[in-house]
Amino acid sequence: MNKNMSTTKCFNCLLLLSLIILICGGCVKQPKSYESPYERSADSLLALMTLDEKLGQMTQMCFSTITLDGSKTLDLNVENFRDAILNYHVGSFLSGSDSAQRWVDFITDIQEIAVNETRLGIPLIIGIDHVHGANYVFEGTILPHNLTLGCSFDENVARMAAKVTAIETAPLGLHWNFTPVLDVGKNASWPRLYETFSEDPLVCGIMGATFVDTYENLPDIAPVKLAACGKHFIGYSDPKYGYDRAPADIPMQVMYEHFVPSFKKAIDAGLKTMMVNSGEVNGVPVHRSARLLDTMLRQELGFRGVILTDIKDIDRLVDMHKNAPDFKTATLVSVQAGIDMYMACNAYEFITVMKDLIKEGEITEERIDESVKRILKLKFELGLFDNPFPDGSKTEQIGSVEHRDMAQKMAEKSIVLLQNDGILPLKPGKKVLITGFAAHSKKMINGAWTYDWQGIKEDMQPADMNTLYEAFKNEIDSNNVFLHPSKGIRNEKEKETFITATKDVDVLIVTIGEEPYSEFEGNLNDLTLEQSQLNLLDAALSTGKPVVAVIIAGRPRVFTKQADQCHAILFAGHPGTRGTEALVNIITGKVTPSGKLSFSYPLAPGHVIPYYIKHAEYSIYWRPDTARKFLFPFGHGLSYNEFLYSNLILSDTVITSRNQTITATIEIKNMDSGQADEIALWFIRDRVGETFTRPVKMLQHFERHSIPGGIKMKAAFEIIPEKHLSYPDERGNMILENGMFDVVIDGKKATFELKL
Ligand code: BGC
Repeated sequence: MNKNMSTTKCFNCLLLLSLIILICGGCVKQPKSYESPYERSADSLLALMTLDEKLGQMTQMCFSTITLDGSKTLDLNVENFRDAILNYHVGSFLSGSDSAQRWVDFITDIQEIAVNETRLGIPLIIGIDHVHGANYVFEGTILPHNLTLGCSFDENVARMAAKVTAIETAPLGLHWNFTPVLDVGKNASWPRLYETFSEDPLVCGIMGATFVDTYENLPDIAPVKLAACGKHFIGYSDPKYGYDRAPADIPMQVMYEHFVPSFKKAIDAGLKTMMVNSGEVNGVPVHRSARLLDTMLRQELGFRGVILTDIKDIDRLVDMHKNAPDFKTATLVSVQAGIDMYMACNAYEFITVMKDLIKEGEITEERIDESVKRILKLKFELGLFDNPFPDGSKTEQIGSVEHRDMAQKMAEKSIVLLQNDGILPLKPGKKVLITGFAAHSKKMINGAWTYDWQGIKEDMQPADMNTLYEAFKNEIDSNNVFLHPSKGIRNEKEKETFITATKDVDVLIVTIGEEPYSEFEGNLNDLTLEQSQLNLLDAALSTGKPVVAVIIAGRPRVFTKQADQCHAILFAGHPGTRGTEALVNIITGKVTPSGKLSFSYPLAPGHVIPYYIKHAEYSIYWRPDTARKFLFPFGHGLSYNEFLYSNLILSDTVITSRNQTITATIEIKNMDSGQADEIALWFIRDRVGETFTRPVKMLQHFERHSIPGGIKMKAAFEIIPEKHLSYPDERGNMILENGMFDVVIDGKKATFELKL
């Protein structure tokens, strides 16, 4: 079939029908006003639709319902697909994993049927979890996971990551990416911590909003667009005891102060779609919470886009939360709360019960129209009606050398040097032994959501990627690189073999951490590093040779006793396809490390994160100031260069009106030779909170500076009272209290007064 012809056919018929509607509508009604031509087009199309067609648009199915063996691999079961699209009028699908060419072919095939064989020719919108690059495309560039990216404290890194992802996603006909995760990583045990950027709301907001803006406005993928999907609204990331989807109890003041800001920033950046939190907050599953989905999201935060459920979560109101007696009630309350599209995945019950609910007058067709109009508007905005087919000519950039180089840059800016007694950078000529669970594995480096939900098996990982061992061999004299792959030490014999392997080497590089997991599969009772890995570290330390620990993990696994003895420690998280080259470049000094921890590394399992503890906690439990608070605190990160901060100056010491600002400046000098990056982290301490108690400090501004060797530069932060000094109450109203505030940077502080 000629694709251009079919598109034109569909578009012309739409135009004609719209004209008829417009003329007929004009006889009886006042012309409506529309905020955009997309809304007008959506409205015109909506007027032509039957109830069945509308309900189909509100339904999203998994590709596994229309593939031959129900797997993620893209072999179309045409009969099942025709059933989905002709009988149920399904408007959206998700998931799948295959090569770029197979994606192009598959989506071309299904869009042809959608556009040419259905009454109105409405194109499908396909959702995908490209959460660290195009991770469901076999040739895709696998980027570092978000927690690693967050450690770059760099908007440009987020922009680069979003750009690579968009360019490797949209040409395949995938126009809806289920990222960015805007959840604030407050709970170190939560198995999705690595999907968040940080424990800090500002970092999550800035990185997340940059993703949204880049996806949705990237000229490189024109004429189509990629919709971002903020997730998971809201309060998902602090479940009790850290289990995924466990209930969360979050006071509303905390909700507004810590969880709302990242979502708000993304919405302000134009976020087109939002996915709902699968958990329950304060006793109410979020999928049925009108308080959160309607009052907060729609009315207070002004979100106008599409609200998508998470997978099968209407069913879970019945099966999991036991908060609705049956699926019909669950559907009713979710739709009443505000969901627009159900990620039903593999059953059509949503459509049938919705028809009953409408027939019985429980849900009005006007309510359905609101949702369907949003969905159609999204499809128009993304350019799907004009360009429903993948653009096979634009796929050559997928996995390109340029993108892989960019992936390496991202990792290099994100990896954090946590400890170093001077062993790093490694002197040339040293013999190194690479050991531990990730020494010779790609799977551990890439982590979960790589070609498969839990990460694909080792032999299917990217062929042209290097393990850490291989990357070392490529970079330094390969005769000096030795491998002892080991998941840890479980007995004396394994210890002996290991000790023997260390005999002729100078330095031990020990990878420690976690195998890939996603969602509840990663639930954990104890953050302590696995005993066999602790044994490996102990054995390595017992040799008396320098030990460099490299942490490959989705969350901070605790190993305080051993950490204290390591000569150097690096945090890499899951750094992606080129993460091993980035690590080698940092270890050998080719690249100066510049990442800083975007989360607090606890001293003990169950120990406190995040860093923004309250004054009371600080004064009762944490004093004196010299007491050790974290294994490594939020914002900690070493460089091979020394940076000297001095001369913290405020442009004024009193603010007397809301419009007045104060500029804080500080000088940062690169004390060594060679250009290096330094991230300036500006905190504000509200000394007294009268309405609500305040945290000891909150990050209010951050900036990465690249400073030439020996040069001093000036960093600045403009303090705007309403933006940086206020905080929300339990209804989200902002409170601005007079009093004393400290600006804190690199342990230095300057004080000013707000006196309105
Ligand atoms: C996850 C979402 C994801 C969705 C679709 C769910 O299990 O919670 O983050 O986008 O699956 O794959």
